[in-house]
Amino acid sequence: MKIGIIGAGNIGRTMARLFIAAGHEVALSNSRGPESLKEIIDELGPNARAETVDNAAAFGEVVLLAVPWRSPEALPHPDLVANKVVIDAMNPYSADSNVIDLGESTSSEETARRLPDTLLVKAFNTIWYKHLAEQGDPAKPEAERRAIFIASDDPSAKTVVSDLIRAIGFAPVDAGSLHDGGRKLQPDTPLYGKELTATQAQEALAEHN
Ligand SMILES: NC(=O)c1ccc[n+]([C@@H]2O[C@H](COP(=O)([O-])OP(=O)(O)OC[C@H]3O[C@@H](n4cnc5c(N)ncnc54)[C@H](OP(=O)(O)O)[C@@H]3O)[C@@H](O)[C@H]2O)c1
Repeated sequence: MKIGIIGAGNIGRTMARLFIAAGHEVALSNSRGPESLKEIIDELGPNARAETVDNAAAFGEVVLLAVPWRSPEALPHPDLVANKVVIDAMNPYSADSNVIDLGESTSSEETARRLPDTLLVKAFNTIWYKHLAEQGDPAKPEAERRAIFIASDDPSAKTVVSDLIRAIGFAPVDAGSLHDGGRKLQPDTPLYGKELTATQAQEALAEHN
């Protein structure tokens, strides 16, 4: 599958490595332009390319958002991701690392407003990038793998993202809709950052319902 990655920092690079190892093709992008990505593209090999943000979005059948949530200017043009599965890994931190109060809304619902008509899935936002790099294990039965929570209003998009999560050795765990599920995955919630197997994650979800 072709995956466009917006943001080439901790999460963008880690996800690029994992997706390539699972047999996918990635286009990486950042704020400084494709030339600044030469070293990482050389390291990632022939299934990686550097693009502008909009070209990475156009390239991807699936598009991963891994830029600061507080910087909407970092997002691709909405037309380029319309009708695509878009994964929102972003968390609503301010520049001084405080959680931005969104009241009744959640960061991914706001992302969905910024990029309307996408099939948005909140995922990968509750796991530290170093754990993402190290804790996937396709050899383990799914119940024993580290859980990656997902939330979305679109069942078919959940299936696509769940398959990507399995392919990189983790276990998808469905937290529910973008609003109700997504708010369980926000920073400062009991599930955020927790190292849980799929079985433990299901129990934790039931407990925090
Ligand atoms: N770090 C984690 O463990 C972790 C875990 C889960 C979720 N997240 C979330 O994932 C997102 C990325 O986190 P990170 O740790 O990977 O951040 P990071 O290392 O600081 O990387 C951010 C990336 O976004 C790019 N960017 C920033 N402003 C931009 C703009 N205006 N236009 C285009 N690109 C822009 C940067 O471009 P340049 O490289 O050109 O500066 C950089 O490649 C955040 O929303 C964070 O909350 C992080």
